[in-house]
Amino acid sequence: MTHSGKRSRIAGLGINLPSKILTNAQLEKMVDTSDEWILTRTGIRERRIADDGETASTLAIPAAQEALRRAGVAPEDLDLIVCATSTPDMSFPSTACHIQRGIGAKGCPAFDILAACSGFVYGLSVVDNFIRAGSAKNALLVASEIFSRIVDWEDRNTCVLFGDGAAAVVIKATESSSHVIDSRIRADGSYADLLTGGGGSASIVSAKQFDPKSHFIKMKGNQTFKVAVTNMAEVCSSLLADNGYTANDVALVIPHQANIRIIHAVAKSLNIPEDKMYINVHRYGNTSAATVPIAMYEAQEEGRLKKGDLVLLVAFGGGLTWGSALVRW
Ligand code: ACO
Repeated sequence: MTHSGKRSRIAGLGINLPSKILTNAQLEKMVDTSDEWILTRTGIRERRIADDGETASTLAIPAAQEALRRAGVAPEDLDLIVCATSTPDMSFPSTACHIQRGIGAKGCPAFDILAACSGFVYGLSVVDNFIRAGSAKNALLVASEIFSRIVDWEDRNTCVLFGDGAAAVVIKATESSSHVIDSRIRADGSYADLLTGGGGSASIVSAKQFDPKSHFIKMKGNQTFKVAVTNMAEVCSSLLADNGYTANDVALVIPHQANIRIIHAVAKSLNIPEDKMYINVHRYGNTSAATVPIAMYEAQEEGRLKKGDLVLLVAFGGGLTWGSALVRW
């Protein structure tokens, strides 16, 4: 690898959200819950649910195509494709390879990242390191999740929280002042049992012992909440300090959208006003790895990301994993 001195610029964004909406009122008819409980405990009003035929890659492809179009990059010019997902089409080929075929790219490396809800921030860090090393110039980073397939629709503790969605960014090597300044990604596997999704080699799939719930999400929500707030705030503080910034310098925080109370608690801990925290959890719930890029897309569309702004991304998820990235827009 050669050091290019290049940095990563987010050159184009795209999203794709299923059209089917599942409201809290509809959930009231499915499990013992209420609109009032969901809204006050999570901030969520509704979420999107993918159609039966949809997969992580088919959901991702229109988002990737929009990001490429907006960046002015042709699929054949991509030299890296990374997909963050915990709900891949299948164990292999990777969802990134399915996306590569779907958008008509060829030859470049394509692989998935599994870091649950932190997947996009993990992916951004990986892509940024490829670009800094001079190993990529035009990269596609996608986050695509269909959590409705791994949610237990009889478990009110989890089914009200999640939704489906995809987003993509094209990242170009640049010498411009608009670039990813730095990132930090972290994990602590000793907390693995707080939040799990099945479907892997630990799930029983033999006909004799088939457990129809083995691939469902299981979460100790209350404990996860506390670790999430502490670690999200800590990783943001150290990333800002290591780069010579304070919370006052940040124009907008784009946090993982799991729970509005987590977002408010992180703001309080960082001493950042709540109006600098971008929030769209009420519309989509927790779309896992896709929340941060969907929020980034919507923030840009709403004119909340201006050239020169210091933007802080932060995420947290199963693993446990967490991470943060600092971007000069
Ligand atoms: N409707 C009504 N009541 C409910 C519901 C529901 N949908 N869900 C739980 N309850 C009940 C519980 O049974 C409990 O009742 P009890 O007191 O009689 O036992 C009560 O509400 C309180 O439960 P808590 O778990 O203490 O509620 P809390 O305020 O912690 O909120 C929540 C739960 C929303 C899950 C919250 O803990 C949370 O957001 N946790 C973090 C989630 C997260 O960030 N995950 C990481 C990313 S996800 C990923 O990586 C895949």
